[in-house]
Amino acid sequence: MNPSWPYPLLRLKPGKEGMLSRRHPWLYSGAVEAPIEASLVRIADHSGRVLGVGTASATNPLAARLFRFDDGPLDEAFFRERFETALQLRKDLGLWDPEGGCRLVFGEGDFLPGLVVDRYGSALVLQVGTAGLEALREVWWPVLFEIGKREGCTIFVERSQAGRKEEGLEPVNRLIKGSLAGPITIREGAAHFTVDLLKGQKTGFFLDQREHRLSLGRMAQDARVLNVFGYTGGFSIHAGLGGAAEVATLDISAAALDQCEKDWAMNGLDPADHIRMEGDAFELMRGLEPEAWDRVIVDPPAFAKARKDIDKAFKAYKDVFRLGARATTPGGLLWCFSCSQHLDRVRFQEAVDRPARGEPRGAGARASGAAHGPSVWAESSGRVLFEGAAGEGGVMAEEQPPSGSSRPKRVLSFFGAAWGSVSPAVLVIPFGQP
Ligand SMILES: C[S@@+](CC[C@H](N)C(=O)[O-])C[C@H]1O[C@@H](n2cnc3c(N)ncnc32)[C@H](O)[C@@H]1O
Repeated sequence: MNPSWPYPLLRLKPGKEGMLSRRHPWLYSGAVEAPIEASLVRIADHSGRVLGVGTASATNPLAARLFRFDDGPLDEAFFRERFETALQLRKDLGLWDPEGGCRLVFGEGDFLPGLVVDRYGSALVLQVGTAGLEALREVWWPVLFEIGKREGCTIFVERSQAGRKEEGLEPVNRLIKGSLAGPITIREGAAHFTVDLLKGQKTGFFLDQREHRLSLGRMAQDARVLNVFGYTGGFSIHAGLGGAAEVATLDISAAALDQCEKDWAMNGLDPADHIRMEGDAFELMRGLEPEAWDRVIVDPPAFAKARKDIDKAFKAYKDVFRLGARATTPGGLLWCFSCSQHLDRVRFQEAVDRPARGEPRGAGARASGAAHGPSVWAESSGRVLFEGAAGEGGVMAEEQPPSGSSRPKRVLSFFGAAWGSVSPAVLVIPFGQP
């Protein structure tokens, strides 16, 4: 714990400053000359020139994460500027809804590596992923609390984040401030969803799929819809409200499906039009009648939690997308998603293309897509692209600041016109069409 400035110097091996000079915020242990026992560091090249400031861990292979690319403290003013910028971005994007949900802070995408803050109506749910952020909690938490309160948030919850263990941190699941009688309700377009902030998966809900859920609602009239890995039925309820003839939600979690059924009814939908499919997707989908569903959503959990899992995960994605393709009617639509940060765009595309091409009726993949996730980055001509990082999606590019300015210019762009919104990856495969 070393919140006082100046933080100790973490020196790089000769020639290892390349990624940082391109403003990539991650530093792996192999680039570090000698690890030091400090959770907050100033990172310097071999000659001692400071390149940036961030959090660090002597035991994590991800040795440091940069918060700034100059030499200055991570103090109250720093966090205030970052939080206000993140908030303004969500406001500019039209996502800041007092009754809705949106990701206010998305780690690296908001230049706050390791920190996630989701808004659910009057609640903020935080995830703190590094020892450095823990060491600085007394600096950033009062600022976040003040801004949250100003914006009408009265409930503050903290949930665990994958990666805490590598930083030597205990799991956490608690109400920090305010009172919480039970799950809360948020609005998303015409739909209302119940979110359990303390027991739900991740921070309670999968906010990153908002735009896709909304778009499915517009394409559901009279359709038979199969929502695989459906969680609490976000896609299902939008489909039901969009006039679907019948909707099936498949998930392995009984608690999620219980909530889905309650929310289906809460949204005024007829329980007779909803089918509950509880169990393992790989097994249940094998037993489904082929070509029976007009709209099929396949949104699996991250199969590749680490780089070493990629090959196994690739096979699992391929299998489940193939089963999705098999269930889809000719002329229907299949949505394939991935939230594995380690599965890059090319492999994701391959995992979708292969089963689609292999379909006996000669279906073809037409649109292109990408994996979504907070830290799928691509480097391009001196800038870093943060895919899926801006307000839960899209691509955020940080350009080099113009000389003399300390504020990086931030650019949002999206892969493919079809997306046209702040959303993660999508691959829509129209079947039986040229
Ligand atoms: C990424 S979430 C889906 C989010 C959902 N599409 C939404 O918009 O809210 C993945 C879901 O897969 C479920 N799941 C994990 N393994 C599964 C399996 N083998 N079979 C079926 N469901 C599974 C989890 O319970 C979780 O609800």
